[in-house]
Amino acid sequence: MRSLVWGYMTADKNDYSQYAIDKRRIEISYKSKIEGPDRTMNFEIRQFQPEDIGSVISINRLCLPENYPEQFFMGLYYHAPKAFFVAVSEDKVIGYIMCRIERGISHFSRRPIKKGHIVSIAVRPEYRRHGIGTTLIESAINGMIEYGAIETFLEVRQSNVDAISVYESLGFKVKSVLKGYYRDGESAYLMAKRLLTEDTSVE
Ligand SMILES: CC(C)(COP(=O)(O)OP(=O)(O)OC[C@H]1O[C@@H](n2cnc3c(N)ncnc32)[C@H](O)[C@@H]1OP(=O)(O)O)[C@@H](O)C(=O)NCCC(=O)NCCS
Repeated sequence: MRSLVWGYMTADKNDYSQYAIDKRRIEISYKSKIEGPDRTMNFEIRQFQPEDIGSVISINRLCLPENYPEQFFMGLYYHAPKAFFVAVSEDKVIGYIMCRIERGISHFSRRPIKKGHIVSIAVRPEYRRHGIGTTLIESAINGMIEYGAIETFLEVRQSNVDAISVYESLGFKVKSVLKGYYRDGESAYLMAKRLLTEDTSVE
């Protein structure tokens, strides 16, 4: 069973107004809900550090067709370090999430707001379905809220049913289809989730 470390995890999944800021390291023991042999997995989520860059790039290349130069990852780290996390198990980096804080029009109203853009997330294949992707997203959301974001959004390939399931389970909604978004011509869903009501945002 997952030990609940952050206040908001115990609250309604869609209400992030109660959560406690400033938990840089979370130690989590999570037992997968999948039936079958015991699949308990111990992992830790912590903020990305520059020395993690090699591991993060290899996970990105292993798991996704969208690959980036090192400067791109480091640029996001300098831009929003509190929304760039890695998952670690037995001293090995096994997953990451990185985000950008942007200003733009709300996906839920027509007002200009600050949003957290999930630019990339991946978990090494052998560590999937243990709640690591979910916990990375929850951690990044905490960071986004610290930066004053009141919504989060991302793009996902229409064929990426695994990722879409994770996002839906966290309350993300499909807001539009981005035709031919990817280089190979595949379209994306733009999925978004409200984090806070506009009048409770932190500037
Ligand atoms: C998307 C990704 C990060 C999810 O990581 P993960 O650690 O496996 O996710 P979780 O274990 O937190 O999954 C949470 C829930 O999402 C759903 N889910 C996740 N993977 C699923 C799958 N393959 N099939 C069905 N449901 C799935 C399940 O409801 C799961 O909960 P459960 O295991 O208790 O049933 C991982 O699949 C990945 O790295 N994929 C390749 C990279 C990628 O596509 N990134 C997203 C680009 S937009």
